[in-house]
Amino acid sequence: MPYVSERLPLRRALADVSVPPFTRRRGRMLLAVSEQASKEVTDQVERFLTPSDDPQILIPRERPTGYALGIDVGGTGVKAALVDLATGRLASDQVSEDTPRPATPDAVIDTISSIVDRAIGSDEPRDLRAGCGLPGVVKHGRLMTAANIDKEWIEFPVEQVLTDRLGRPVLALNDADAAGVAELAYGEAEGKGGTVILLTIGTGVGTALFIDGHLVPNTELGHLEMYGQDAETLVSGVSRERRGLDWEQWAKEFNDYLAMIERYFWPDLIILGGGVSKGFSRYGSYLRTRAPLVTARLLNTAGIVGAALAGAMAARTTQRA
Ligand code: BGC
Repeated sequence: MPYVSERLPLRRALADVSVPPFTRRRGRMLLAVSEQASKEVTDQVERFLTPSDDPQILIPRERPTGYALGIDVGGTGVKAALVDLATGRLASDQVSEDTPRPATPDAVIDTISSIVDRAIGSDEPRDLRAGCGLPGVVKHGRLMTAANIDKEWIEFPVEQVLTDRLGRPVLALNDADAAGVAELAYGEAEGKGGTVILLTIGTGVGTALFIDGHLVPNTELGHLEMYGQDAETLVSGVSRERRGLDWEQWAKEFNDYLAMIERYFWPDLIILGGGVSKGFSRYGSYLRTRAPLVTARLLNTAGIVGAALAGAMAARTTQRA
């Protein structure tokens, strides 16, 4: 049974909600509330918040039905497929191409458009929603950082350009957030409350942070400072190869990175995704964490599936508004 401590907006919200029993402890009022009442409280408290104009990335508590298009743009490859939202499985072939070099917005958008045509053809209805994961911070439909793709992407209005080019509504989100959404809805984090952190270790280090099933978008913990450097340049998959580290040497440094994440966030579950997670048997025994650490269940498809689900859910909230 959840407890809610008294705060000013809450007190006003609670004025309309009568939920016995009240318990007074050392001058602080604690409320024991039923699930229904707790939802009423949440709904009412939300009315006191000024909504962000960023599209919300929502994760449904129950799997929705229907289909959506998922696109995953990484530093190395661009992939797309149709996703069955009821199961989180791909409903078309996954089509992929290498990320063009240089990875300018024009070149990447041409690649996306060509693989989407090949993945879903021209028969899919125009209202089929889409989501696109990108390797950087996404705010208000624009990519704001570009660690592993061309700097021309910074502030590029990717959501609008893709919506126009693909002729269907597209939600843009961070690639690690997309992978995290997939693991939360269909994978290792399904039904998990508390603090869950997903790390994607590939070209870069991406992170997705969830608190009781809610995403805190764009966490960018791959760029925490470690040994005086950007952690990604030490422990990403590409950095391991560039530095010629064997798995044991890499795991030793990666343990320091994980320890830092645990020191700051105290996660209840850590999920490892991205290209490096596939080789877990070669280094898993060297890793040490306080929280349980598991590999992502969706592996290769997580970015596509999470982007598709987030795109579909964003559309539903817009329709309701
Ligand atoms: C970017 C992140 C991204 C990660 C994985 C990092 O360099 O800053 O936004 O999620 O790479 O692609």
